[in-house]
Amino acid sequence: MTVISLRSADPTGVRTDALIIAVARTGGQVQPMGPGQQVAAALGRSFQAGLTGLGFSGKQGEIAKIPTGGVLKAPLVIAVGVGDGVPVSAEALRRAAGAGVRAVSNAKTVALALPSHDDQEVQAICEGALLGSYRFDVYRSGASAEQVSEAVVITDRNRGRGAKQALATAEVVSQAVLRTRDWVNTPARDLTPQAFAEAVTNVGGKVDVEVWDEKRLATERCGGILGVGQGSANPPRLLQLSYRPRKAVTHIALVGKGITYDSGGLSLKTHAGLMTMKCDMAGAAAVVCATHAIAELGLPVRVSCLAAMAENMPGPTATRPGDVIRIRNGTTVEVLNTDAEGRLVLADALVLAAEAEPDLIVDVATLTGACVVALGGRTGGVMSNDDALRDALPAAAKRAGEALWPLPIPEEMKGKVTSSTVADLRQHNPDTSGGALFAAAFLREFVGDSRWAHLDIAGPAFHDDEPYGYVAKGGTGVGVRTLIRFAQDLTTAS
Ligand code: BES
Ligand code: MN
Ligand code: ZN
Repeated sequence: MTVISLRSADPTGVRTDALIIAVARTGGQVQPMGPGQQVAAALGRSFQAGLTGLGFSGKQGEIAKIPTGGVLKAPLVIAVGVGDGVPVSAEALRRAAGAGVRAVSNAKTVALALPSHDDQEVQAICEGALLGSYRFDVYRSGASAEQVSEAVVITDRNRGRGAKQALATAEVVSQAVLRTRDWVNTPARDLTPQAFAEAVTNVGGKVDVEVWDEKRLATERCGGILGVGQGSANPPRLLQLSYRPRKAVTHIALVGKGITYDSGGLSLKTHAGLMTMKCDMAGAAAVVCATHAIAELGLPVRVSCLAAMAENMPGPTATRPGDVIRIRNGTTVEVLNTDAEGRLVLADALVLAAEAEPDLIVDVATLTGACVVALGGRTGGVMSNDDALRDALPAAAKRAGEALWPLPIPEEMKGKVTSSTVADLRQHNPDTSGGALFAAAFLREFVGDSRWAHLDIAGPAFHDDEPYGYVAKGGTGVGVRTLIRFAQDLTTAS
């Protein structure tokens, strides 16, 4: 990860390969912000003329590279547009830092001269720089371009305890997000359930890990996880992580969908549908990494984290449409579409989570294409059996710079879930309207009286489009920042 330091300095005198500034558009004029004004002043008329010549308008994410010709200590200024939002939000700063760092090619060091009025903004800038400099190069042979190894964040808050804490928090949060991205980006050939379990075990830290293999899953009656995993040569796993701080104010359970590859099983996906399905363990990766971050931040929140890992493949031993499986709590489920596998592995994990009697349960899953249809590729859905929780999670997400939106679990879904002619529940509704909501109604059957919320991150977990802000192509690490922020909120509310 890039090394970041805070420094109060005149940005024109900072020795670095590239100096990043933010430029807003106000009343048709481009306007450098905060310490960027000193940079613009030093460059004089060539600053405005340069930007105009490049056709730079200051819209969000726009980049202009301005050679300084020796006027500044830095050879290159990178201007990042932040649009006309005044004042700029923390998230706009996070994106500007990310876009600026991404625009740097073949530089080892950068300095960010962005406006920072409080420590939250310092944290956002640090996060943007750390997340924006992410690359996933492990499978590339040959030399790749120089990566930014050092970033200086210029702020006159640098001496304050709050700012130092903001940097430390940004490092923990970003490391969790980047580890999630790495796991999501790792091809399913290499990230099998066993390999995933091992990778989680190897993280170490203040978190205890217990792994259940397929034999243990059988003695523990986890028929959902086993039913999904039985078509694959790579057997399933269930991981339980626990973080028990001494003075916990609350106890939360985090549950993640960890399908290391989702072929759809016998209800095989189309070719287009298969392309990104290594991402189907993004929920498990997010809850695991958030748990580690919560522990590393030392938050007084006890966390029981469960990650249900399986590979969903067709094969001679695969579950068939029409089969009935039995979930850990004894509930029988008629499987009607083997591509609706996430809810089956989550069912066992939710039952286990409820057994731990936490104060609340949050599950995170790339669960339905229907949620992507409803909310698009950048926003996750929140469904819950508790109104307060359904509002608290989007609020935490917003503060963390992620996008979640509440969705209902309409009353009629209960009847659809319980309408199997052979088993207690049916897993799939042939009427696909409201598919994300049906899935949530199914999951709700397994949480008992627990307060529970479900995050469907099928849209935002994997970014298959052009990079923007601090988001690269591939795994995004979505959910991690929301869960950390949510845990922090729990410590201040009580
Ligand atoms: N993993 C998919 C959902 C998904 C879709 C994630 C797109 C990321 C991007 C899930 O297991 C799935 O296949 N869901 C089915 C459910 C259907 C069969 C009821 C879907 O959405 O088509
Ligand atoms: Mn599926
Ligand atoms: Zn899936």
